[in-house]
Amino acid sequence: MPLLRCLLVVLAVVVASAGLALAEENTGGAGWQVSPSPAPSTEKHHPCLDNSPNMTEKTGGEAGEVVHDYGGLECYVTGSRRSGRAIILVSDYYGFRAPKLRQIADKVADSGYYVVVPDLLYGDPYTDDPARPFWVWIMAHSPDEAAEKTKPLIAALKKEGMSSVGIGGYCWGGKVAVELSKTEETQAVVISHPSLVTVHDMKEVKRPIEILGGERDTITPPLVVHQFEHALDQNNRVDHFVKIFPKAPHAFACRYNASDSFAVKTAEEARADMVQWFDGYLKQPGEFQLQ
Ligand SMILES: *[C@@H]1O[C@H](CO)[C@@H](O)[C@H](O)[C@H]1NC(C)=O
Ligand SMILES: *[C@@H]1O[C@H](CO)[C@@H](O)[C@H](O)[C@H]1NC(C)=O
Repeated sequence: MPLLRCLLVVLAVVVASAGLALAEENTGGAGWQVSPSPAPSTEKHHPCLDNSPNMTEKTGGEAGEVVHDYGGLECYVTGSRRSGRAIILVSDYYGFRAPKLRQIADKVADSGYYVVVPDLLYGDPYTDDPARPFWVWIMAHSPDEAAEKTKPLIAALKKEGMSSVGIGGYCWGGKVAVELSKTEETQAVVISHPSLVTVHDMKEVKRPIEILGGERDTITPPLVVHQFEHALDQNNRVDHFVKIFPKAPHAFACRYNASDSFAVKTAEEARADMVQWFDGYLKQPGEFQLQ
């Protein structure tokens, strides 16, 4: 226990203090460097926690439904199973109930996909509860474990006749998606304003990956996104595309300010880019014209 516990504490401190300092010279193994920052006292200002979703907000009608055991996970599902193509959207710290995430899922489904949003936080999304600070909460939610728990869901989707499965991840979910992109489980991956992802991860990616970053994202800033791109350029197995959205803060794709038309437009563009990437790898050639 002591070593694992210690590693988790280090991880939590790094995450919660916005001090995810990536090792510039990543020689493998270490993965990332821990910057000596104090334990967080200003969690409210952590960009991963900004603009938290309003869970009582109406979304304008959800097209899908919640199923309680899909490959062992509670999931929001939307769209047609008959499409034969599935997209799994992995949430940020606020979980699979977030209204804007479900809206995104419904809209992606409209593009001809069966979309599944699993509850990989097991009914325990981050809630801004001061009694349970972020760094304590995150210790219970390893993205690597979440990636493992996603595999039975992918198996269930394939058993139901899905010929291809894409994974889209936001923030924490971006790390989950990257872990799955290192396997044969998925056909393509899109990560939006990821957190916890390292340059070293990019060397292990095996599936086509799109990275959508924000110009004002301080968690995975453009400099780091370009380090990812450089690592992917050298990873010749894998097709990749990187885009930085002007003026976009962290979480711009799924926790945007709905009263700000520029923010809404940016989030819509990110969703369209994600769908386009999946169209290129999940649909059969020539299928676009038929749709
Ligand atoms: C959340 O949404 C509900 C329902 O639309 C609304 O009444 C409430 O004011 C919202 N809360 C905040 C903090 O925006
Ligand atoms: C959202 O955008 C509106 C319009 O630009 C602005 O007045 C408001 O302050 C913004 N809300 C937040 C929480 O940033």
